[in-house]
Order: sequence, then C-alpha cells, then structure tokens
Amino acid sequence: MKQYKIALIKGDGIGPEIIDEAIKVLDAVSSNEKFDFSYNEYLMGGIAVDVKGTPLPEETVQGCLNSDAILFGAIGGEKWDKLPRDKRPETGLLNLRKALSVFANLRPMSVFDELVNASTLKLEVINGVDLLVVRELIGGIYFGQPRQNDGNCAFNTMIYTKDEVKRIAHIAFKSAQKRRQKVCSVDKANVLEVSQLWRDTVNEVSSEYPNVLLSHMYVDNAAMQLIRDPKQFDVILTSNLFGDILSDEASMISGSIGLLPSASLGGKIGLYEPIHGSAPDIAGQGIANPIATILSAAMMLRYSFNEENAAKKIEDAVKDVLKDGYRTKDLSAYDAKEICSTSEIGSIIADRVSKI
Ligand code: IPM
Ligand code: MG
Repeated sequence: MKQYKIALIKGDGIGPEIIDEAIKVLDAVSSNEKFDFSYNEYLMGGIAVDVKGTPLPEETVQGCLNSDAILFGAIGGEKWDKLPRDKRPETGLLNLRKALSVFANLRPMSVFDELVNASTLKLEVINGVDLLVVRELIGGIYFGQPRQNDGNCAFNTMIYTKDEVKRIAHIAFKSAQKRRQKVCSVDKANVLEVSQLWRDTVNEVSSEYPNVLLSHMYVDNAAMQLIRDPKQFDVILTSNLFGDILSDEASMISGSIGLLPSASLGGKIGLYEPIHGSAPDIAGQGIANPIATILSAAMMLRYSFNEENAAKKIEDAVKDVLKDGYRTKDLSAYDAKEICSTSEIGSIIADRVSKI
C-alpha cells in the first residue's frame, strides 16, 4: 500500500481545530483507497515562538522538506503582534514558503449553489462565478531588499526579475488551458516600473499559449471589476501583494472566507492552507468553519499525490453536506437545517466521504 507522508502545521488560533477535522476527512478517504497517510506535526508561528523562541524552527523546515506534502492551518494573534518582525508568526510562514520555493499560490473561488445567499453581493452577480487567482508567492514587495523602518522613515522594495514573472506566468497560462482559456494579468503598469516589466514579460510568455486569451488590468480597476462583474474572470494572474489583497476581496463572492482553500506549488513539496487567518477571537469555541482546510486537503490529494478520485470525493462530500443544510456558525443564516460545531461538521463530512 502506498503511504503518503504529511507534515502537519496546526499553528495558532483556530489552526489546531480545523486541521483536526481535515485529518478526520483524510483518514476517511484513505479507508476506501489504496493508500494510507502518516502524519508528523511541526511547530510554526506564535506557538513556535513560545516553545522554541523562533516562528520557524529548523526542525520544522527539515520535517517539511522530508515529507510528501504539508497541510497548514493558520498562524498569528495579538499576543505576538508587538514582537520584532523577525520573531513575528507571519515571518515563519513567509520563510517557510521561501524555503520550499513554492512560488505559485493557487486560490480557486467559486460559489456553492447552496450558499448563494451567503454572499453580500447580489445573486445575479455571483451566480456561476468560477475563477482562479494565481498569486506569485515568494517575491515582490513581501521579500524585496532593501527594507527599513528607522522610526522616521520607512520603505520596502517591490522587485521582480523577468525569470520570476515568467515562471508564474507559465503556471497561469497552463491553468487556463485546463479551464476557460482566459488569463487576466493584474498590475499597476501605469505607475510602477516593476509592473511594466511584469506586463512585458507576461505578453512575451503568452505567445507560447496562442489558445489562451490574455488581457491586462490595473489593480485598482481589477478590485472594482471583481465586485461589479466577477463572471468576466477565469484566471487572474498577479503579484504577491496584489494577489493577497484581491484574493481576500474575491473570497467574499463565495460568502465566507471559511470556505476557500489554497495550494502553494512550484517547489518539490506542496504547501496547502486555507486562505483565512487564525481568527483568535473565535479560537477554542468549536465554531470555526473547517471546510477551507478540508478542501485544501483535497487540493493536496490532487496536486501532490495525483489522487484525483479521492480529491473529488472530498469535494463532493462537502457539497453534499452543504446541500443537506449542515452549517457552521458563520453560515448559520443561510438555509441552515442544522447548526454544527467544528468537530460535528468535520465528522459529517468524513462520514459522507467514506460512503461515496
Ligand atoms: C495569506 C496571508 C499571509 C500573506 C500572511 C499571514 C503573511 O494573508 O496567506 O494571504 O500575506 O501572504
Ligand atoms: Mg492574505
């Protein structure tokens, strides 16, 4: 029997609760398939600062590099907000992404039919939306040097090399080939040099994909268009900072940020995480929505293990459970038949998975 070695990073806030539910679902899926999972837990984020004095201990990096894939919950919280930047939980995550060379962050956004009313946007605007944000993840202003804050003056550097833009552009075009053959590249080329290079490079790469329709949009307009008419988008290709902002914006199309998974790819080992944060305000109450993490586990099966069938099972089970009206508290106002705790909805999804 095949065995996949998964590194688990539960992290802070609701991280541990949501990862536990994803494990339930993974175990349910493996019980009917010809593979098995082994899990090893590693520390990252605030908890790693508390226990090890650093947000990304070396054994976490090594453990991740020795695994087949990584499932990560969330990090951060007020408790660690005052620490110097190199000790902040977020720095742990950024350094892990860098250490893994996962330059491509895929954030699919679609609307569950059962939850169309959960969005703050009108039904006719969001019905049928299905888009993919392809966010560059280990470059741009997040990592650019020099950077400084001396108390009087502060700056960061937004920097991209042509090679960095090329490799993420290829991912976007290849993703579009499997979807509706459209890429919209988002930049600020009317103001920024770095965006001009981005745009020129994307144009160059596009000549290798004659069947994919490329358009360009300035980021301010893209932020507006996402709310005005999100159906116009198939693949949105963008840089680290713009992708961070636009993906949170786009998440509201689906009604709850608690539903959206992501995959970070491009290195040898993939990193899978919900797009939401650690939500310290609701941690430990059993009300967090584990679906984004469960769907991230499905992406892991698809992209790291090539187990499409198992990935589909999880996605179908989630749809089924939502269709039957099971909801965590964040979605309780939308056609709920039964309000479930984090652990209850995890068990219900796991149970469905084992019956598909
Ligand atoms: C995300 C998060 C992270 C980011 C933070 C936690 C560093 O917002 O994954 O979108 O900005 O990339
Ligand atoms: Mg973000």
